[in-house]
Amino acid sequence: MKEHYILAIDQGTTGTTVLVFDRDVAIKGRAYSEFKQYYPQPGWVEHDPEEIWSVTIRVVAEALADARIKASELSAIGITNQRETTVMWERATGVPVHPAIVWQDRRTAGICDELKEQNLESTFRSRTGLVIDAYFSGTKIKWLLDNVPGLRARAERGEICFGTIDSWLVWKLSGGKAHSTDFSNASRTLVYNIYELCWDEALLETLDIPRSVLPEVKPSSHIHADTDPGIFFGASIPIAGIAGDQQAALFGQACYGEGLAKNTYGTGSFLLMNTGREAVPSEEGLLTTIAWKIGDEPVEYALEGSIFVTGAAIQWLRDELKIISSAAETEALAASLDSNDGVYFVPALVGLGAPHWDAYARGTIVGITRGTTRAHIVRAALESMCYQTRDVAEAMERDSKIKLKEIRADGGAVGNNFLMQFQSDILGVSVEVPEITETTALGAAYLAGLATGFWESREEIDSKWRMGRRYTPQMSEEQRGRLHRRWLRAVEKAGGWSLEEE
Ligand SMILES: Nc1ncnc2c1ncn2[C@@H]1O[C@H](COP(=O)(O)OP(=O)(O)OP(=O)(O)O)[C@@H](O)[C@H]1O
Ligand SMILES: [Mg+2]
Repeated sequence: MKEHYILAIDQGTTGTTVLVFDRDVAIKGRAYSEFKQYYPQPGWVEHDPEEIWSVTIRVVAEALADARIKASELSAIGITNQRETTVMWERATGVPVHPAIVWQDRRTAGICDELKEQNLESTFRSRTGLVIDAYFSGTKIKWLLDNVPGLRARAERGEICFGTIDSWLVWKLSGGKAHSTDFSNASRTLVYNIYELCWDEALLETLDIPRSVLPEVKPSSHIHADTDPGIFFGASIPIAGIAGDQQAALFGQACYGEGLAKNTYGTGSFLLMNTGREAVPSEEGLLTTIAWKIGDEPVEYALEGSIFVTGAAIQWLRDELKIISSAAETEALAASLDSNDGVYFVPALVGLGAPHWDAYARGTIVGITRGTTRAHIVRAALESMCYQTRDVAEAMERDSKIKLKEIRADGGAVGNNFLMQFQSDILGVSVEVPEITETTALGAAYLAGLATGFWESREEIDSKWRMGRRYTPQMSEEQRGRLHRRWLRAVEKAGGWSLEEE
């Protein structure tokens, strides 16, 4: 067999990473490219779907070149993606009808308010496991149908496709032959019933979304389509693994047992706990979501705490405030202080997600004195990543009735030792960073490799998980409590801020 490799495409919020793995899970080739973010109005965030596609296929070519292999040597392709981001395109031509509306976009907060006024929160929660929030695709689809001239009529005639980014890429890679998604991505749309495993007719009616726009939902580890050789470097390769980025990271971290949890430190942070075949409802502002479905096996679920802004706050310090020139600098700056000196930064730059769900909260820095320096602001930004994680971790322990014994960490920011140590201190449990920190891409590769028999079983994969570094708590219980209580006071100050402006 000359098919020795798996290609993983991680199409994220700020960039696309492509990795080539061999059977021993060694990274044989890699490539990465950022792409453009559009902020057309305050609170709006868009991407250009055509650019996402052209960047993706270019980065695939670069990763293949880096690995010095031909596309025909691939056994399978796995795709993992920024979730909830909403694309709609013409079925006949594949041309997008509007820029993609990104998960962070708040333009549909008003639609969500109306749904809440109709007391529909428990209806949505009991069917989708989600809260009513602009975060999810459902209200974004509705917004497009309501606001792009003629779109609803065309959608009703069956001329329009909706997809999250995975669907868009499968469509493009297959040369327009497949319009599909996987269970994990479907579970983030606000119109998919995670208990009955179908698009929910009642919710579609509530949001006035015609069924014909929806993709077919298939398992996460399953052949969705083959690539079109005319597009994919002369090769027809099965696209065999698909999962949303956070579920893929949970899979890539080998969190297969119930109660195992990972937190990813990227643009935002997402703490996910595997709850096995049981969908655990949340009373604490967490989400109940589909983790994945492996072939014919039953669907598995996760509890999720979605934090919208963690690493993005560091980017903001770099790109907007310009008080640092690189994210890596933050470690030494934060460590140059003995304490935060009472300075807290609540990075509610796009409102607050779990467990607060306040679309109108805004970024807030409190405790500034004449002696405050940029090191304090930087430290406060890093600390906020850890306090926010504690907020969702506590909610998760209450919901699941499982005490977290440790968390597995991944994502771009885990290289920051200050951050990881402070996280362990504030949580009071150890934080483990695996050898391969690109767990998102790894999870997609595993899902694809399991579907094609490249890897035999999850047990085989589990045996390959290797710990890189481990951080253990060094802070007293009293101090971690005091710091966290003060953080909660700062969060109160950020709440509802943008409403008061009006
Ligand atoms: N040393 C560091 N300290 C703190 N934050 C860092 C550090 N290095 C990177 N980051 C942050 O990590 C984030 C990048 O991580 P990652 O690539 O995992 O993001 P992501 O959310 O997966 O992005 P995408 O959605 O595009 O995949 C950036 O927001 C960056 O500010
Ligand atoms: Mg990512």
